[in-house]
Amino acid sequence: MKILGIETSCDETSASVVEVRRGKFTVLSEVVSSQIKIHRKTGGIVPEVAAREHVKNILPVIDQALNESVIGRASWRRPKNSLLHSLKKSAPGRSLSPVLDDVDYLAVTAGPGLITSLMVGVEAAKALSYVFNKKLVAVNHLAGHLASSLLLNENIKLPAVGLVVSGGHTALYLMKKLGSYQYIGGTQDDAAGEAFDKTAKLLGLPYPGGPEISKLAKKGDADKYKMPQPMRDKPNFDFSFSGIKTHVLYEYQKNPKEYLKNINDVAASFEKTVAEILTFKTLKAAKKFKARSIILAGGVAANTRLRKTLQVKSNENGIYLFVPELKYCTDNATMIAVAAYLQIQKKDFADIFKLKANPNWEL
Ligand code: KG4
Ligand code: ZN
Repeated sequence: MKILGIETSCDETSASVVEVRRGKFTVLSEVVSSQIKIHRKTGGIVPEVAAREHVKNILPVIDQALNESVIGRASWRRPKNSLLHSLKKSAPGRSLSPVLDDVDYLAVTAGPGLITSLMVGVEAAKALSYVFNKKLVAVNHLAGHLASSLLLNENIKLPAVGLVVSGGHTALYLMKKLGSYQYIGGTQDDAAGEAFDKTAKLLGLPYPGGPEISKLAKKGDADKYKMPQPMRDKPNFDFSFSGIKTHVLYEYQKNPKEYLKNINDVAASFEKTVAEILTFKTLKAAKKFKARSIILAGGVAANTRLRKTLQVKSNENGIYLFVPELKYCTDNATMIAVAAYLQIQKKDFADIFKLKANPNWEL
């Protein structure tokens, strides 16, 4: 089975073709067109700018993913007509692209995310589904992140506790089965990635702040500054990160020069604090729900300290930890195709005449 995944929920335009054989995934192609350089100029994402970039890139990105999916496969010749080419000549209802013909299902992120970004991917996917007569799967972006671990190991031990930590979300889910999610807690204010991005910004670092803080943190002393751990001791599985960012702001304002002189230590202390809170609550949830494994996912899962801290605690408690490869932590269409596979097994297809992008789609 071959699935074409499409992802445009935030600031990456991405398309991938994933093949599934007996539950094992092979990535035939993946294309990610990042807008980071553009958004760096404004220190964050301007939604309309992001949407315009998606509009510009969506068909070339899909086209490239389809064409690259056949390279190196002996039974396939690279098609002379690319999808873009065939679309120009196409008549509705006729399949014209040989590569898209070979794809069995389409999958697209339908939410949550920026509405204007999501709409570009969703409408493109609906149009392709209509013209090429392929079933379409509407995928929740967070389910996509949680599915990315399946690329490395399709035998995740269940029940599992999934932690999604991204720029827009920080949430814990109980997964009794693959593809089923029970929300057990989440952030009450900023997402973990958002806290990284905002803290970095106030320290004068470029967007996105997560990787910047993590770079500086490697050279810093993580025990130099004690930072608050809001909600850590509350008897629930919720998080709060905005207080840590405000704490950094107040400390900075007391003596900006001195604080910036020690920016590596600030970065390391901040990173350690966030990693400890996330690890503490995730382990607490895993123990309470007798989880056999923990799945870490989302952009902040690329953070080395978080990966290590969670690994140590998971080992101590005899719980497996599943973490995706670095490139699958941040937004990509491969994870969307993988999550779609779980839905295809349940025949969970979208009605293309009803499907709408939903910026607040809760998992
Ligand atoms: O999942 P993602 O690509 O997009 C959303 O769905 O939000 O996550 C992006 C977030 C950003 O906030 C970025 O700063 C953060 O992930 N991030 C990191 C690292 N790499 C990306 N945060 C901490 N450490 C990193 N190495
Ligand atoms: Zn994401």
